[in-house]
Amino acid sequence: MRKNIVAGNWKMNKNLQEGIELAKELNEALKEKTLKCEVVIGTPFIHLESVVKSVDTTKIGVAAQNCADKKSGAYTGEVSAEMVASTGAKYVILGHSERRAYYHETAEMLKEKVKLALENDLTPIFCIGEVLEEREANKHFDVIQSQIEESLFELSAEDCTKIVLAYEPVWAIGTGKTATAAQAQEMHAFIRKLLVEKYGLEIAENISILYGGSCNAGNAKELFSNPDVDGGLIGGASLGVDKFMPIIEAF
Ligand code: PGA
Repeated sequence: MRKNIVAGNWKMNKNLQEGIELAKELNEALKEKTLKCEVVIGTPFIHLESVVKSVDTTKIGVAAQNCADKKSGAYTGEVSAEMVASTGAKYVILGHSERRAYYHETAEMLKEKVKLALENDLTPIFCIGEVLEEREANKHFDVIQSQIEESLFELSAEDCTKIVLAYEPVWAIGTGKTATAAQAQEMHAFIRKLLVEKYGLEIAENISILYGGSCNAGNAKELFSNPDVDGGLIGGASLGVDKFMPIIEAF
């Protein structure tokens, strides 16, 4: 059966010391708890190794927020999937809308990143999502379908089961405007249907699909109670244990 996952995405927040402190605080808060979901934290690259060493990695998975689309070589400033894996991180967030919009990441680049992540035993948390104009023009299903088909559908069935998807409507990210539970379920069911058609029911049923976009302590329970919503990718509300814990405990 697929896993429930609550993953934090710190984005470009917290210096190294603050990041280690937050990771330790979360680790402490989770110590005595029996959890009904996996917990992941997505930190900046430079935090990865220290955060891995600061937490019980059987309880908290550590994620990078990106990796290069090239294996190695003369790509100044880039960080490869192999480098991410060598820190002890187990996940990598790929295709976040901020990377697509501000850093011009294309479907083709993302396809390479996913491939390299898998080759290095990292679990990609692959983000997809439509912008407001696309939803208003009723194009949101087409947009999501293309994003999935263009970057993921060349994967073998076996590799596809190693991926986590995160549906993040761009209009909901950091805006306080969450998708309704019904809107989330509708899209997640659509995504699962695409996976069933391509890879079959058994595989599709085993892929976790997270919701992201202004998910918080107040709406997590309702969102996660949908049959096809298997957890959340949490930005702002993952930056403090007080806000992140109730989301983890929504399961
Ligand atoms: P948010 O961000 O929770 O701050 O809306 C979610 C994300 O971008 O992953």
